[in-house]
Amino acid sequence: MVRARAEGNFSQVLRQQRLRCGLTQLQLAALSTISVRAIRDMESGRVASPRRATVALLAGALRLTGQARTAFSRAALIESSHLDKMVTESMRIDAPVWTTDGLVGRDHELDAITGLLAAEPRQRLLTITGISGVGKTRLALEVSQRVHAESDSPLLWVPVAETRGDWIPDPAPPTLIEAMAELITGQADTSGELAAIIGTAPMIVFVDGIDDVPVRAPALLRLLTDCPQVTVVATARVPLGIRGECVLPLAPLAVPEPGQEQDLDSLGQIPAVSLLLRQLAPVQPGFRLNPANASMVAGLCRILDGLPAALGLAASRCLMEPLPHLYEQLIDDPRNLHALICHHPEPMLYASVLRSIETLPKPHRTLLNRLLQIDDCWTVDDAVGVTGLSQPELTRSLHVLFTRGLLRRVERHGSYFISMLNIVRQACAGIHDVPLPRADQARLLAIT
Ligand SMILES: Nc1ncnc2c1ncn2[C@@H]1O[C@H](COP(=O)(O)OP(=O)(O)O)[C@@H](O)[C@H]1O
Ligand SMILES: [Mg+2]
Repeated sequence: MVRARAEGNFSQVLRQQRLRCGLTQLQLAALSTISVRAIRDMESGRVASPRRATVALLAGALRLTGQARTAFSRAALIESSHLDKMVTESMRIDAPVWTTDGLVGRDHELDAITGLLAAEPRQRLLTITGISGVGKTRLALEVSQRVHAESDSPLLWVPVAETRGDWIPDPAPPTLIEAMAELITGQADTSGELAAIIGTAPMIVFVDGIDDVPVRAPALLRLLTDCPQVTVVATARVPLGIRGECVLPLAPLAVPEPGQEQDLDSLGQIPAVSLLLRQLAPVQPGFRLNPANASMVAGLCRILDGLPAALGLAASRCLMEPLPHLYEQLIDDPRNLHALICHHPEPMLYASVLRSIETLPKPHRTLLNRLLQIDDCWTVDDAVGVTGLSQPELTRSLHVLFTRGLLRRVERHGSYFISMLNIVRQACAGIHDVPLPRADQARLLAIT
């Protein structure tokens, strides 16, 4: 249970802080953009519940940081009716139950994340990164449900993209979820107020979908510092870049190695195949893996990179045309992959992949373009040969490309290689207008 823990008389605290800065009410009004009348009302105690945005503006104008800022916000909140609502809300925090379909694969990732969250000392900021549609949200949901089943820590699920908004003109008291979303990506720094509410209570905060919004890293770091029992698990296209962050780059689902289509039972267990078959079942009810279609299914999973969102799109296309037609189209012209993935609902899968590439710092983007020259999978030494970069330079850049989910590790006959996702090759080639070979000429795309 989360409770605010401090006493405070906001009218006195505000006055003391103003005098400490040597400001008149008029000067504080000018600095904070709050009316002088509102400041007078707060100092006289006529306003019992200052809005959080107001408190944040005052704290900024008074140059309060760290503990002083927390104490200031706490004094305001203790008198605020918002507090009751937020505390009540926080007491019924639960795991979201938005999933009714089973998770395919991801055993290792689940174990790794739950292990890090349970370890002592705990990992307090963990970011699952990767391209859009790879399954970051789905994995985080599973983690939240597992944590919920195994511990009594309150959980808070913050869907950033959905809760974002300018809350200052909104007269309704914000929920804890909105306050947390505002802290991470919004305009006002609410870390002091949230720290006042959460205090030393344990809480795991899932922040989902930090994609195109800049993160208020200092505010998040302050919250983690002031609330020693808070842990944050975020999903984002790129790492947040916050000190102490642990990044888990999420690769797409495993796809069949060439030759694995021989054994139908084991082929059906490979996560990308298993997800594709599950998604095909409602749209092509009679479809079964058999020796005649095994290499098509395996090839399709490889063309689609084992990317869950792309597999889902391919399956939904099968409402309109049989799987072999789609496969032929994808093999015939790589641009058909582009056409297929452009149908992803908002935010569009392809557009998101483009953003992952276009927002890369220039040297890494240049490297990615040079890597387009290598077909199939390759080793770091191959890449040194093609790019002319030194191994340390190359390794640094490859690390960035991996954390954004643009590259994946491939196992072939017991050896490890690297390859660029087909969808990324498409996007890069599109940006630079480089023609890609037909899929059956490029070993990378569909080894059939
Ligand atoms: N391991 C998985 N098992 C089953 N479905 C998955 C899996 N990973 C992703 N999905 C499904 O694929 C789609 C895209 O996944 P999502 O988690 O939204 O991707 P991201 O958050 O990386 O953009 C969703 O419909 C999701 O339910
Ligand atoms: Mg997501």
